[in-house]
Amino acid sequence: MVGHFWPLAASAALFGVTSANPSQFPHRYQNVENRLRQRGSSGTPETTSPPFYPSPWMNPNADGWENAYAQAKEFVSKMTLMEKVNLTTGVGWEGEQCVGQVGTIPRLGLTSLCMQDSPVGVRLTDFASVFPSGQTAVATFDRQLLYARGLAMGQEHRGKGVTVQLGPVAGPLGRAPEGGRNWEGFAPDPVLTGIGIAETIKGIQDAGVIACAKHFIGNEQEHFRQAGEAQGYGYNITQSLSSNIDDKTMHEMYLWPFADAVRAGVGSIMCSYNQVNNSYSCQNSKMLNNLLKDELGFQGFVMTDWGAHHSGVSSALAGLDMSMPGDTAFNSGLSYWGTNLTLAVINGTVPEWRLDDMAMRIMAAFFKVGNTVGSQVPINFDSWTLDTYGPVHMAAGIGQQQINHHVDVRADHGTLIREIAAKGTVLLKNVNNALPLNKPKFLAVIGEDAGSNPDGPNGCSDRGCDNGTLGMAWGSGTANFPYLITPDAALQAKAISDGSTYQSILANNQWASTSALVAQDSVTAVVFVNADSGEGYINVDGNEGDRQNLTLWKDGDALIQNVSSLCSNTIVVIHSTGPVLVDAWYDSPNVTAIVWAGIPGQESGNSITDILYGAVNPAGRSPFTWGTTRESYGTDVLYEPEGPLPQLDFSEGVFIDYRHFDKTNQTPVYEFGYGLSYTTFSYSNLQVAKTGAAPYTPTEGYTGAAPTIGTGNVSTNLNDYLFPNASFPYVWQYIYPYLNTSSSAKAASGDEYYGLASDSYLPPHATDGSAQPYLAAADKISPGGNAALYDVLYTVTADVTNTGSVAGDEVPQLYVSLGGPNDPPVVLRGFDRLSDLAPGQTGVFEVALTRRDLSNWDTTSQNWVISDYPKTVYVGSSSRKLPLQCTLA
Ligand code: NOJ
Repeated sequence: MVGHFWPLAASAALFGVTSANPSQFPHRYQNVENRLRQRGSSGTPETTSPPFYPSPWMNPNADGWENAYAQAKEFVSKMTLMEKVNLTTGVGWEGEQCVGQVGTIPRLGLTSLCMQDSPVGVRLTDFASVFPSGQTAVATFDRQLLYARGLAMGQEHRGKGVTVQLGPVAGPLGRAPEGGRNWEGFAPDPVLTGIGIAETIKGIQDAGVIACAKHFIGNEQEHFRQAGEAQGYGYNITQSLSSNIDDKTMHEMYLWPFADAVRAGVGSIMCSYNQVNNSYSCQNSKMLNNLLKDELGFQGFVMTDWGAHHSGVSSALAGLDMSMPGDTAFNSGLSYWGTNLTLAVINGTVPEWRLDDMAMRIMAAFFKVGNTVGSQVPINFDSWTLDTYGPVHMAAGIGQQQINHHVDVRADHGTLIREIAAKGTVLLKNVNNALPLNKPKFLAVIGEDAGSNPDGPNGCSDRGCDNGTLGMAWGSGTANFPYLITPDAALQAKAISDGSTYQSILANNQWASTSALVAQDSVTAVVFVNADSGEGYINVDGNEGDRQNLTLWKDGDALIQNVSSLCSNTIVVIHSTGPVLVDAWYDSPNVTAIVWAGIPGQESGNSITDILYGAVNPAGRSPFTWGTTRESYGTDVLYEPEGPLPQLDFSEGVFIDYRHFDKTNQTPVYEFGYGLSYTTFSYSNLQVAKTGAAPYTPTEGYTGAAPTIGTGNVSTNLNDYLFPNASFPYVWQYIYPYLNTSSSAKAASGDEYYGLASDSYLPPHATDGSAQPYLAAADKISPGGNAALYDVLYTVTADVTNTGSVAGDEVPQLYVSLGGPNDPPVVLRGFDRLSDLAPGQTGVFEVALTRRDLSNWDTTSQNWVISDYPKTVYVGSSSRKLPLQCTLA
């Protein structure tokens, strides 16, 4: 058993514990105000991350977690120290069949927990569906559809034997439109993303699968997210980028949707690759202990992103609960945890209660979604091959057996996928009644984006290319298409059934034939164009995950301009991962319609056909702003590191996307929340009712002490932890909790080895299991922060009337002006999708405005405060079309 054991003598360095002046580590509750008084004003980025210890332990009375806690306690009480460690540490990259798995607990009948991407479907398998991206789904502004998508994805994961679906995504939020993974998330607005992530989580977990809200936190760009990856691209950096975010911006923007995730009961959260204020996210006690577990009261477990683990003891004390995929670097055979965590608990560096808490959190999440030990769906697929037979331990190449059972989990989800993609499609322009199409005489479809990839829909690994129609972007947030209906196939079928003439040229550069086609008489030309992006480990055409620019790919602008110069009825369809620059052609009179179809998934062609022909009346709303130039956004990706530890200052504070355009008084091409319909709506009768909710009370008092779940009697005899015996089936490169020597105890003694006083290299209070005071903004039982933040203070209603001639959905939106000099002019606080309003019919739009909706984060009191500035509510159809308004009394 050589190769997976790291000598303990090296462990303090390995664990990333740095010696420090204890005065730098005030008790987590001492002097919080003084400590933070100078910090955290909006737009002044933090460059250091204060310590916060001890790590909060689970609360047996947390709302929605009581039963899960009781079941977990019963199970965890029976576990040995090494069994607990086994639950916290992945078995190594490609050690088993899922993208991540932890060790088994055979003695207690628990098979391995399976972590599997992705946020759009079950990744790396067959007979599973590909759903529209989160960004496209949230453009529906439809809570029911967001929930239904989550439920369907969860059902598919469950059917494959997945325990944790690695999604949904609220980081990136979308600070910069170029951000490569914005499409995996929802929108650069915390409220829209918060509702998107909460509904998706509820759906996934109702299907019996643990959701994983990721990436926590500040993971806003691909460049420099991992030092090794960046070095591979030739950048001279030594550490991952630090996202420097002030306290106010953190609370009002980036943390907000994670609060909604926690409130929705999410079972797991993935900490990100990047550093936050110069401390790695997965060992950042301020982020994990303070914000996530204490203030938000998160009861589930924190897992690392794959390879985002950089230390042993310090990550454990900072609030990490699971190491993924378990090895230090892929296939190193070494782990920061595993053996090292076993030793750290034996020698007291990590208190036993902290390990108990990790195991409790993992098992509680397992039980919370309805699992029972012994009846898990067996893992019936393999991420590393689609072959039916192969090695179950792919990295080691051993354990030949049937690893793919090819279980078809798709049910009738294709219908839902088609509906979501159509309802998330945004009609940006429509003049001369260009749309809906009505049996056009001659339909010409132009562009590579309407056709198929010559290598097939899954021809590029993790969709790392932009060939054919863009049904999915690239990276780990993907799944294999079971089929991909191209726009060309669906539109052709529809046109032919209507008796139209139909021709398509599925290339962007066939100028001669394209010109000849679209210049013909009576042609309606539909031009398909796209802009792609993805995850940083794949470079597509010079785009290292993040987009290099905001222009259309493959000469899309030239294609549109050429076609529209010859055809007076040119309709443009855009598939993209975010906004693109349309300034060069959007107002051309020959461009009669523009449609954003997002990242639609497997039913792409059917969904766009439903919109173009009016089977679905469009009501999707743009989940981001369409600026005139790249610079107009005021934020961008950092593309060139300025030093070995790149610093990404969020100096814009809360002013991203529409908040920035509004503040700087710039007129975008299309604003956030904008979208047209084939009918029209009027808004009237705004009513605001004050509820008389009780005043806000900061939480006071103390938690209980860290519970004893284990025996409290950890043997310090290393012989008790030795690797079983020669007949134990050791798997090469696999991560185990066992020791392979009993002779390291002396060397392992921190005092002797470092010549330091006992524990002096640990932050003060890091091992303190005594009762701790509650934070004012936290809650004693309710996850998501002080429950009174969610008290409804006002109920707002307005009438929305269909004034056109066809039935349609409308998305009324409510914005609030918080009124302060440093507040954005308006912020989204509520919306609804009123479905199927008949001509002349009036629907009532209703929003319950909560205390949080009207508050700012106060960095001094470390709490939410409603300022004295006058508050105004606005209601309308986009962030800039707000015909109704009322000042709150
Ligand atoms: C890295 C990605 O950032 C994360 O989103 C994903 O879940 C893991 N890889 C596993 O594939």
